Amino acid sequence: MRTLFKNIKELVQVRRTPVAFVSGAAMKQLPTIQNAYLLVKNGVIADFGSMDSCPRIDVDTIVDASGKMILPSWCDSHTHIVYAGNREGEFVDRINGLSYEEIANRGGGILNSAKKLQETSEEELYQQSKVRLEEVMRLGTGAVEIKSGYGLTLDAEIKMLRVIKRLKENYSIPIKATFLGAHAVPANYKNNKQGYLQLLIDKIMPKISEEKLAEYVDIFCETGYFSVEDTELILKAGQQHGLIPKIHVNQFTAIGGVQAGVKHNALSVDHLEEMRDQDIVALQNTTTMPVALPSCSYFLSIPYTPARKMIDAGLPLALATDYNPGSTPSGNMNFVVATACIKMKMTPEEAINAATINGAYAMGLEKEVGSITVGKQANLLLTKPINSYGFIPYSFGQNQLDKVYLKGIEIN
Ligand code: NIG
Ligand code: FE
Repeated sequence: MRTLFKNIKELVQVRRTPVAFVSGAAMKQLPTIQNAYLLVKNGVIADFGSMDSCPRIDVDTIVDASGKMILPSWCDSHTHIVYAGNREGEFVDRINGLSYEEIANRGGGILNSAKKLQETSEEELYQQSKVRLEEVMRLGTGAVEIKSGYGLTLDAEIKMLRVIKRLKENYSIPIKATFLGAHAVPANYKNNKQGYLQLLIDKIMPKISEEKLAEYVDIFCETGYFSVEDTELILKAGQQHGLIPKIHVNQFTAIGGVQAGVKHNALSVDHLEEMRDQDIVALQNTTTMPVALPSCSYFLSIPYTPARKMIDAGLPLALATDYNPGSTPSGNMNFVVATACIKMKMTPEEAINAATINGAYAMGLEKEVGSITVGKQANLLLTKPINSYGFIPYSFGQNQLDKVYLKGIEIN
């Protein structure tokens, strides 16, 4: 099965020599080819270049991309797509003046979602989640990470992870699963956080490794949730079960979670709305990817991750949605890229690098997706006719995608 895309106005994020991620000043470089072709063979990028050297071969499908651009599809390295119901009520509470913290203290927040999820069957949870997954695929997401963390019991956490496994089996986009049992202390362990951590370590983690239900381990390292000490405990235990750390840190307070992540070779540290100078220094020259979640900042009206300061200090940065019912009920990577440009002062080049190759790295998929490179999956965005790729974030809230391809096949 061969598809040839011809007359592409600009082929974006072309990496002939593969890179794992880009950082610092290199994030401003977004290699492209104007007036290009792209050949896809059996779902994989087989060849590309300037139209001057377009091969004259028999193919099954020809797509004339005159006036349009092609980018690798978005890589969303941080989501909580598997959840039950929604928290629209809390949305209105916040409009009426309550803070995220006040809502959580009244039994809302994560515990509210956990209660709903515990009462929802695995089949129903799958049905609700697949609708969200299909929606973000149509919005251009071509690789995604999904966390547990709204179960908070052995059965409910395993239920969530089995739903993620079923999504992996039934959809062609790469999906990575993260165990986030340490998302909040459940009500029945209110005065026994240590007991809950032991449940995660002694009962749930062994089951996860036995059933191979997750690749990563996560924890909400935050004042009022889990301490740095708890974080180290969970990361160490996770690693003993073959789970690589990817953690929630510095969302509301900076308490040393970044350093704990780096110490335990976290693949990524995510949120980072509150960054001290020492947190930036701790990330320099490491293999840990900082991940910003601008739609969360937008929705909660909290500070944006200081992207400018971080990139100017030589760090890489990835962008993800954080799609979840409480802090970010949106999985639109186009909006994330636009918000990063508008609110975080990232250039379109930086934002596109952050949402493609760096996002791929943040979920261990940099060899499969995230750039136009021979051998990678043909997960592609074909834009409407636009003048420059910068028009995508510029025209925020509008849809500049004409078609989305996964493994070279158009989805609708
Ligand atoms: O990434 N911060 C922790 N977890 C989620 C939100 C959880 C919720 O409110 O349901 C986040 O923002
Ligand atoms: Fe999150």
